[in-house]
This record gives sequence, C-alpha cells and structure tokens, in this order.
Amino acid sequence: MYMAAGQSGGAARLGAPRYQQCISRAMAGSSPMEVPDEQSFSLDYFCVPDHYKDDLSHLMLPHGMIIDRIERIAVDLCRDYNLNYGSGERLHMLCVLKGGHQFFSDLSEALKHLTLRGCSAPPLTFDFIRVKSYAGTETTGDVQIESLGIDLREMKGRHLLLCEDIIDTGSTMLSLIPYLESFGPKSVKVATLLTKRTPKSKGFVADYVGFSIPDQFVVGYCLDYNEVFRDMAHICVMAEAGIKRHAVAGG
Ligand code: HPA
Ligand code: MG
Repeated sequence: MYMAAGQSGGAARLGAPRYQQCISRAMAGSSPMEVPDEQSFSLDYFCVPDHYKDDLSHLMLPHGMIIDRIERIAVDLCRDYNLNYGSGERLHMLCVLKGGHQFFSDLSEALKHLTLRGCSAPPLTFDFIRVKSYAGTETTGDVQIESLGIDLREMKGRHLLLCEDIIDTGSTMLSLIPYLESFGPKSVKVATLLTKRTPKSKGFVADYVGFSIPDQFVVGYCLDYNEVFRDMAHICVMAEAGIKRHAVAGG
C-alpha cells in the first residue's frame, strides 16, 4: 500500500446490507485468488477464436471468472474508499495502457453497477497513462512512461488508483509509483488483475489483486504478445509454436 505521509489507509465502510456479509473482512485491499500451477482448461470447452487456437497451449482463466472476480474487487474498493465528495475528494483511476484497458473498463463498470444495486461507489474520475517495458515475452528493464496529454501536476492531493493488467517482475510499478508520488497525490494504490509467481519478482505487492498465476506467459483480456491476442476474451497460455510464429525481429 502506498500512502503519502500523514494519510490513513482506507477506513472500513460497509455498503448496503446485502453486501455486508461478503465485505465484512476488516482488512483493506483484495488478496489474490491463487490459480494452481496445474490449472489448465482445454480450449475445446470454450469459444476461442479459430485463428488463435494453434498459438495457444491451454486456457487458464475463463472470461466469466475474470468478471466475477472483478465484481468482488469493486466491492472491496467500495468498502475501503470512504471519500468526502463535498470536500472534492474523488477516486482517480489511472488506467495503465495498453494492457490495463480491459481491467480498468470492467472494474469501473462493476463500480457503477454496485451503485445501481444500492451500494454507493466512491466518486470516480480517470485518466490514461502509457507504460512500456516489454518486448516479446521479456521485460527490457527500461520503463518508458507517457502521460498522454495530462498534466501530472493535477494529481496533487488526489487518491490515485493505478489499474494494471499484470504485475510480473514488478519493475514497472517500482518505477511508476515513485514518479507519481513526486507530484504529491494524497494516496497511490495499485489494482492489478494478475500477479505472477515468478522468481524474477522484485517484491512489489499490489493492494488489490485479482489472481496470482503460475510463471507462464499469458495472453488475452487485453494482454498481448507483440500486440497480438488483446482481442481474446479469456486468458490463455501461449504455446511454443505461437511464441515462434509471432516473434518480431529483435523482440
Ligand atoms: N503476458 C502479457 N504481458 C505480460 C506478461 C504476460 O505474461 N507479463 C508481463 N507482461
Ligand atoms: Mg501492464
């Protein structure tokens, strides 16, 4: 959890009574649902684009399960962010492009739906930033941050929630968070759909995590391999053949 000095963590706040049972944990954040190393569904049981089938080994996370898990993260966010709209406080979501786009979109949709069902979500605003550090299946270690036309000085005093697709080595977040903190936000927290159990991890732990996944290269749900597979609904593991087929020169 990244809070600026002097700020307290998300105070517990319960929503409408029907949610109380499932959000009664005193803890802030969302701990990951652990996907076992051997979790593997045959592609044949799901609708996977024909043109991708030969590139994939198996399916790891069906789309429906992703959406259900995001719904729970939205509930956890409602519980944790007790913001004072009257004094101008908002939850400012920063979608980390490109990979975080689908997670951001489904998470903000889930927050809107909670409000429709009587559990008031915090007031939301959002911006997009772009971060690039991967070529093929390997991190380049060189993290490039583009603020996409926003003046980051406007982040001063805001409660920022970064929305990421995956924490792998963690080097992106370890560069991005101190950079954003230099603009004086009130708090910076991270929501990620996936975190990878990899020996290459630099130890970064996100505040809200959908799933902890085995050390395999995954695609789909906006995660890519050299820009391919972002349009697939499920999260799948690449086959060696697909890694070779879509490799780019120098990637
Ligand atoms: N898939 C896609 N993009 C990624 C991954 C992955 O497993 N790890 C880091 N970026
Ligand atoms: Mg990402």
